[in-house]
Amino acid sequence: MPVLQPVHIMDISVKNKAKEPAMPTGSPLTPARSAVAPHLSLPAAPLDLLALNIEATFAHSARLVASHIAAHLPDTDTLLATLPPGALLGKPDTYARHLVHVDPLERLSAMVLVWRPGQSSPVHGHRTWCAYRVLRGTLRERHYQWDPASQRAQLTNTVARVTGSTFSVPQGLQHIHALDNASDDIALSLHLYGVHRDHIATGVNLVVQTAGA
Ligand SMILES: [Fe+2]
Repeated sequence: MPVLQPVHIMDISVKNKAKEPAMPTGSPLTPARSAVAPHLSLPAAPLDLLALNIEATFAHSARLVASHIAAHLPDTDTLLATLPPGALLGKPDTYARHLVHVDPLERLSAMVLVWRPGQSSPVHGHRTWCAYRVLRGTLRERHYQWDPASQRAQLTNTVARVTGSTFSVPQGLQHIHALDNASDDIALSLHLYGVHRDHIATGVNLVVQTAGA
C-alpha cells in the first residue's frame, strides 16, 4: 500500500496572517471584462464563460484526490509512525502546520495540522485544490457562501468532521470554510494542496471577510 514518504519537517508559521494575501477587490469569479476599460469591452467574454463552466471539473478533481486519500492511506497510527515526531507538535497560540511530503515535480504538498482545543483557521476559500482527512479527534467546519455584491462571506452551516473522514475543497470561492477544534482534545488532520512547498504560505488560503466582520 503506498504511503506518503516523509521529508524533513518544515513548520509553516501561521502567526502572521499578513503573509496570507487577502482576497483582491474583485472576486476571482468576477468576469474579467469588468476590469477592462469600457471603450475596450467586448460584446462577449467566451473565456469568462469557459472558466465558469470548468468549475465543476475543478471540484471533481479535488474529489478524486480525496478518494485517493480514502483508498490508499493506511490507518492513522500506521501513517503517523512513518512521520517524524515533530509532525505532531502543536503551538500555544495558533494551530500548527507541518510539511510532511513534497512532490518532486512540485505538484502538491502534504501537511499535518495540529489543532489544540479552541484553535481555528481563518475563514477562507482556496487558491488551489485541497483534500483533507481528520486523523485524530473532531474538527468543526463552518461553511460560508460568497456574496459578490458585498464582497463578504455569509455563514450557512456548521458540521462536525470526525476521525477518519475525508473531504475535498476545490479552488475558488464556491467553497469557503473555516476549521476549528471545538473539543477538549488535540485534533490532527492531514491536508494535501496543489502547490509546491515554497508557495504554501501564500498559495493556499484565500482569506475573505465575513458578513458582520
Ligand atoms: Fe481550507
